[in-house]
Amino acid sequence: MLRLYILSLLACCLTVSALPTPFASWFRAARWHAPSSTSYLEFVKRVPQAVSGSCDLSQASIPTGKPESTMPLSMPISDRCLAPTPLPPPSSGLSLSHVAVGRGTQNYTCDLTNATAVPVAIGALASLYNVSCIAADMPALLAYIPGIALDMPIPSSPDSSSPVNEDLSGFHYFLNSTTPFFNLDTSLHSYGNGAFKKANQTTAPTTAMKGPNGQGDGAVAWLKLSAMSPGGQVFQEVYRVNTAGGNPPKTCTGMAASFEVPYSAEYWLYT
Ligand SMILES: *[C@@H]1O[C@H](CO)[C@@H](O)[C@H](O)[C@H]1NC(C)=O
Ligand SMILES: *[C@@H]1O[C@H](CO)[C@@H](O)[C@H](O)[C@H]1NC(C)=O
Ligand SMILES: *[C@@H]1O[C@H](CO)[C@@H](O)[C@H](O)[C@H]1NC(C)=O
Ligand SMILES: *[C@@H]1O[C@H](CO)[C@@H](O)[C@H](O)[C@H]1NC(C)=O
Ligand SMILES: *[C@@H]1O[C@H](CO)[C@@H](O)[C@H](O)[C@H]1NC(C)=O
Repeated sequence: MLRLYILSLLACCLTVSALPTPFASWFRAARWHAPSSTSYLEFVKRVPQAVSGSCDLSQASIPTGKPESTMPLSMPISDRCLAPTPLPPPSSGLSLSHVAVGRGTQNYTCDLTNATAVPVAIGALASLYNVSCIAADMPALLAYIPGIALDMPIPSSPDSSSPVNEDLSGFHYFLNSTTPFFNLDTSLHSYGNGAFKKANQTTAPTTAMKGPNGQGDGAVAWLKLSAMSPGGQVFQEVYRVNTAGGNPPKTCTGMAASFEVPYSAEYWLYT
């Protein structure tokens, strides 16, 4: 599957003359995790190691989704992978502050005393990696990163030697079963933090990665989250888009009382 993604990337990048520096860490990570991938090596040979030190986040535009019927076939693949019902846009007056790829697990519980029980979401835990400059400069490539990240093991940050840890911007976890938290204040950076509640959600596109190596129960919904205490936190709204994996099985049959499902997604954070 990793090979497939790299081939897709290769296909979409042939016309691109320079990649922004941050993307390099994802490719070094891909090689680190799959050293024998010849398509990766082929890719690297074709990509000039261009250096672009900064980016303009105002150039980045979030994929909130468009109705599929309005999409012409000539549209680039990244734009065609859109959710069936669009999320509402960010509130006016807010500006994009940070874009991260999250890689971790969605957590669920099952009531084993109930033969017809279904899995209940109790939270998530993910490491967040700064992809702000990729969002600004190469949004079509960004859309593939959750799929690539899902095929890699979860890095044990911050000690892991996986090259993506160069770009660690923080962690995503839950304060309780309904309160997601984003902590982008680490010993490396102080990008901000905040607690959120769900404001809107939409089903992930059917083309989304179902799980690692393409196997699994599907991609978690795309979300819009709004601040728990707007006056007391840096981030005001967060979107989860371009999700990969994370959905539980439809029923609890054969499941443990609590279990984790691997996932990855883009998180767009607004201030
Ligand atoms: C979600 O957003 C859509 C517009 O994108 C709107 O029609 C719908 O009512 C919203 N749902 C909720 C629960 O706010
Ligand atoms: C068993 O699970 C089903 C599905 O979630 C639920 O509708 C039902 O109320 C549960 N029964 C008991 C006794 O908890
Ligand atoms: C990391 O994020 C910040 C915004 O929080 C941005 O200014 C910076 O350029 C980003 N770095 C990369 C490598 O994307
Ligand atoms: C979860 O935490 C939030 C914020 O502290 C609180 O408002 C909410 O009532 C809590 N919910 C539950 C189910 O404990
Ligand atoms: C669920 O998430 C928590 C962190 O929020 C983690 O410590 C725990 O090991 C996870 N797994 C299960 C099966 O609960």
